[in-house]
Amino acid sequence: MSDQHGSASLPGGFRALGDLTVTRFGYGAMQLAGPGVMGPPADPGNALTVLRDVVDLGITHIDTAGAYGPRVTNRLIRAALYPYPESLHIVTKVGAERDRQGGWPPARDPGSLRRAVHENLEDLGLDVLDLVNLRLGDAAGPRPEPVAEAFETLAELQRQGLIRHLGLSNATPEQIVEAQAIAPVVAVQNLYNLAHRDDDRLIDELARQGIAYVPFFPLGGFSPIQSSALSAVAARLEASPLSVALAWLLRRSPNILLIPGTSSRAHLRENIAGAGLPLSADDLADLDKIGH
Ligand SMILES: NC(=O)c1ccc[n+]([C@@H]2O[C@H](COP(=O)([O-])OP(=O)(O)OC[C@H]3O[C@@H](n4cnc5c(N)ncnc54)[C@H](OP(=O)(O)O)[C@@H]3O)[C@@H](O)[C@H]2O)c1
Repeated sequence: MSDQHGSASLPGGFRALGDLTVTRFGYGAMQLAGPGVMGPPADPGNALTVLRDVVDLGITHIDTAGAYGPRVTNRLIRAALYPYPESLHIVTKVGAERDRQGGWPPARDPGSLRRAVHENLEDLGLDVLDLVNLRLGDAAGPRPEPVAEAFETLAELQRQGLIRHLGLSNATPEQIVEAQAIAPVVAVQNLYNLAHRDDDRLIDELARQGIAYVPFFPLGGFSPIQSSALSAVAARLEASPLSVALAWLLRRSPNILLIPGTSSRAHLRENIAGAGLPLSADDLADLDKIGH
């Protein structure tokens, strides 16, 4: 199967992720675990069906993490999709664990990172992870902390052949530069959507360098984006606000890859259709005012 296998009809087409090729319309698997991203889902059969739909619809980029569940989402992905189509690329994250309260404490010492990479390999049933993001900061956002020791640990695992590409998540521009002195960074996954545009300059800089930018919470995460300007544009287009939010992200920059999350087969299809909405120059101008 060719690396570019996937539906030519997915909005956004294809994009390079390091030396891999993925559909710009990807899938975020976090919502498949139980409430609060802890434990198994109420309906595991539905989760497996959503994952099979993802692949059947031609999506070739799934975003996950060992911390989802923990270890629940990765095992669902394996149960639904193994053996994986050659075209499918599963991106995971390390650097945070889960505590009993459902918190996400950092786990970026070398031992924790090595353990997390091996657990991802085991749970996903892979010999090599296509892309591992080092997740920095905390739930409140990025923090200006050094990344060298943690990124060097992952670079060593990359040299050992366990990881193909490295990325960063929840990272500041300075941390990206610091990591790039250690090993190439092919993707950055940060919080960004129509209403949260702190990374505008960073996105343009990464586009200049050919690095993918993967916004998490593209729909607003646990509280969907709400804005009267967004609702007005959506009403004009007879579309949902969330559809417009996805279509806007695809138009925002060619290095943006979408990973909207859903546990619903219907929402998955709605989101694909929505991301393909044509937006006029007037629509874009109105939407551009929201995050500023
Ligand atoms: N790097 C990080 O630190 C980090 C942090 C958070 C997330 N992520 C990644 O980013 C991905 C995306 O983020 P996310 O899933 O948290 O947030 P999101 O994609 O912004 O939004 C997901 C939420 O929107 C709902 N939704 C999706 N489509 C919908 C539709 N068509 N109509 C109505 N509601 C809809 C989902 O509920 P339903 O299930 O009911 O559809 C879910 O509650 C995650 O899956 C994860 O892979 C990374």
